[in-house]
Amino acid sequence: MTTAPADAEGTTVRRAERADLLDVFQIEKTCFKQPWPFAAFEQFLGEPGFLVAVDGVSQSMGRSDESESAERVVGYVVADVTPNYGRDIGHVKDIAVHPDARGRGLGRTLLQQSLVSMALGGAKLVKLEVREDNDPAKALYESEGFEPLRRIPRYYEDGEAALVMVVDANEWQRGGDDR
Ligand SMILES: CC(C)(COP(=O)(O)OP(=O)(O)OC[C@H]1O[C@@H](n2cnc3c(N)ncnc32)[C@H](O)[C@@H]1OP(=O)(O)O)[C@@H](O)C(=O)NCCC(=O)NCCS
Repeated sequence: MTTAPADAEGTTVRRAERADLLDVFQIEKTCFKQPWPFAAFEQFLGEPGFLVAVDGVSQSMGRSDESESAERVVGYVVADVTPNYGRDIGHVKDIAVHPDARGRGLGRTLLQQSLVSMALGGAKLVKLEVREDNDPAKALYESEGFEPLRRIPRYYEDGEAALVMVVDANEWQRGGDDR
């Protein structure tokens, strides 16, 4: 399994596994007014674009020569690729970082890793929907080259509009050095 190297805080990004799902679901419920149900995450297990960021935790077993490593999921992204007559479309369906772990670059790392995975999966264009008032997320997406395509009024159950944002996967890959 491909695992991105740990950052300075010992966080790695890797494919999601069944054992991660409870943590993912807890973060989802903390972050969203309309959380996905648990079963929705189960359906994406095995999808290359379902990634988790995990903090490594070393637990002492009481003797200096015995320790056990444990992991804590601190963020995730769910993305997939849909065939589209030779111009396959990637879709970032869900992304969140636990409130305690925000501002460390994890949201950007998760988004970038999902973009790499979707490009490898053949995506030419990547889209996502974001709440119109979600300034942190919009700033992240804009800084990765996403641009607003259209506005969908009353997209969310509470009546708020969504912005559909898109980025060309090839341009994103070429622009990597400039960002
Ligand atoms: C959006 C979210 C995933 C960002 O995660 P994060 O790990 O805090 O983001 P990062 O530390 O990687 O920051 C990346 C960029 O996001 C933007 N950003 C992050 N937090 C921000 C804030 N509070 N205000 C404005 N911009 C912000 C900035 O552009 C930042 O880049 P910079 O550090 O160079 O300024 C996180 O805020 C989150 O989980 N929000 C709740 C769930 C959600 O809204 N998901 C998006 C659904 S469409």
